[in-house]
Amino acid sequence: MIGYLFVGLFYIAILIFVVGVLVRIFNWARAPVPLNICTPLGQQKSLDWLPRARFDSPYTKWETFVRMLGEVFLFRSLWKNTKYYIETQRQTATKWLWLFAIAFHWSLLIILLRHIRFFTSPIPDWILLLQSLDGILEVGRPELHMVTILVTNLTILLGLFGLLGRRIVGAKERAISLPSDWLALILIIATVGSGIIMRYFWAVDIEGVKRFAIGIVTFNPVLPPLDLFFLTHLTLVSALLIYFPFSKLVHAAGILFSPTRNLPNNPRAVRYINPWNPPYTGISWEEYYEMYKDQLDEIAERGYKVGGGG
Ligand code: HEM
Repeated sequence: MIGYLFVGLFYIAILIFVVGVLVRIFNWARAPVPLNICTPLGQQKSLDWLPRARFDSPYTKWETFVRMLGEVFLFRSLWKNTKYYIETQRQTATKWLWLFAIAFHWSLLIILLRHIRFFTSPIPDWILLLQSLDGILEVGRPELHMVTILVTNLTILLGLFGLLGRRIVGAKERAISLPSDWLALILIIATVGSGIIMRYFWAVDIEGVKRFAIGIVTFNPVLPPLDLFFLTHLTLVSALLIYFPFSKLVHAAGILFSPTRNLPNNPRAVRYINPWNPPYTGISWEEYYEMYKDQLDEIAERGYKVGGGG
């Protein structure tokens, strides 16, 4: 009976996650972007002889795409994070946040990719390769017992506890931390923690997990093994999936729709018109000319250029 409950919970969680993220994406995609919001980090396209920063201040679609790749895979703007000291008027680079963030996100990606092994049979070669690369670290005494420590398990803990520690230790960070910030971090730490316990300290019926996981994706549900840590892991994962679309965690998809990242820095060359500006009710050039005909003709007689448009 209890097994059915977990199958139901997991399906509902997946459904809320997929529909919720799609609705968010749909809303972002149709939101008007009335202005070209530039946050250039370097020289924009200007006079030919001025060297420009192609990817900090991209001008074409391709340059903007490359900036986006840097953002998604390297967290480039976080790399530029600085701290300003008013007393000494000093600005210093603070790369800690970048380090913890990149350690956490890359480890999570690799861990989730490795989890595909539960959902497929046979396991694709590239996942086996990823698994063995991640497992290069072996500790113990060769003559006694060796344990494979997954590198991503260490790096994800470094990232997560770094991000948590930052909110605890930094007075300013603590002051602006909302309950939802703590919730997201603690949920992820608990999910990762229960996985790590299963991996190193608690033998779980992996065959049973695999039957359950394959049952889920083939819509042929099989009951999960009734194992304390596996069911805890599954409940935490379901909670994360349900919470994801409504929380800040959805920035994973939102970054792609961020106008400060995905728009080229070209407002001097391309005219952006705010779609909800009221219609123009001023006068035309012809009417203007009629009003100031004498003065304008006088100017023109002196050789200055007078004319509409341009
Ligand atoms: C947000 C999603 C998830 C996260 C962050 C997560 C995280 C982790 C982590 C960090 C580990 C430690 C070992 C490793 O790195 O492979 C782990 C192990 C494990 N996870 Fe997950 N997991 C997630 C989803 C799932 C799902 C959906 C299932 C079930 C189908 C699952 C089943 C397991 C099992 C059985 C282990 C133990 C593996 C072993 O003993 O080798 N996880 N998980």
